[in-house]
Amino acid sequence: MGGNKLKRFKENLSFDNLLQPNREDLVNDKFKLKGKWSNFFKNDNPIILELGCGKGEYTFSLASKYPNQNFIGIDIKGARIWKGAKDSISENLKNVCFLRCQIELIDKVFDVGEISEIWLTFPDPQIKFQRRKHRLLNTNFVKLYKKILKKNSLIHLKTDSEFLHGYTLGIAEGMGLEIVKSNHDIYSNRNAPTDAINIQTFYEKKFSDKKITYMCFKIM
Ligand SMILES: C[S@@+](CC[C@H](N)C(=O)[O-])C[C@H]1O[C@@H](n2cnc3c(N)ncnc32)[C@H](O)[C@@H]1O
Repeated sequence: MGGNKLKRFKENLSFDNLLQPNREDLVNDKFKLKGKWSNFFKNDNPIILELGCGKGEYTFSLASKYPNQNFIGIDIKGARIWKGAKDSISENLKNVCFLRCQIELIDKVFDVGEISEIWLTFPDPQIKFQRRKHRLLNTNFVKLYKKILKKNSLIHLKTDSEFLHGYTLGIAEGMGLEIVKSNHDIYSNRNAPTDAINIQTFYEKKFSDKKITYMCFKIM
């Protein structure tokens, strides 16, 4: 393992805004903040998640823009969330947390209806049929998100994958969910929401030659 990664892992342990719950505790429903995230943030403001956040650009930027909302970036890669956590500490943002855990265990981290909104930013499309169970927008994942979301909450998807965009439209329609917006090329469409166009993630910058799509749908 690279020295830089090890240095980041070590530094992660000293960050108050970065939590690394033990898998065993999660599986056995022993995670102390489940249903009590207002204790962590010290307020009852809405909580918005960024799933597969990588370096956490959306978590960081939305938290800076909306101080009366709380933002949690989740990813399994510790060396990536280090960046979001470090930047948030530098900017003294109190409405941010990063969580290193498997998204599959998200209902062990949050209680029913504890979350107000979800962003998925450039998730791996997992195009191969054999990889479909890892696709973060398959029916099972959407059902999992529904468990922790309040009624009428939004799920946002920003991606460079036409496949994933179309697939997710199909999933939402098939589950009877309301598609609020669907945009096939956000940078040449005046109606794209500002939060979709004003923040660029690490992966988005890597694929800047491709069309970027955005959609959001409502969990009822
Ligand atoms: C393609 S990257 C995108 C990262 C970031 N959102 C961006 O746009 O730069 C996908 C991220 O999702 C994370 N990820 C994928 N599946 C996951 C899972 N089941 N649980 C936790 N993290 C996951 C990966 O570790 C990776 O950092």
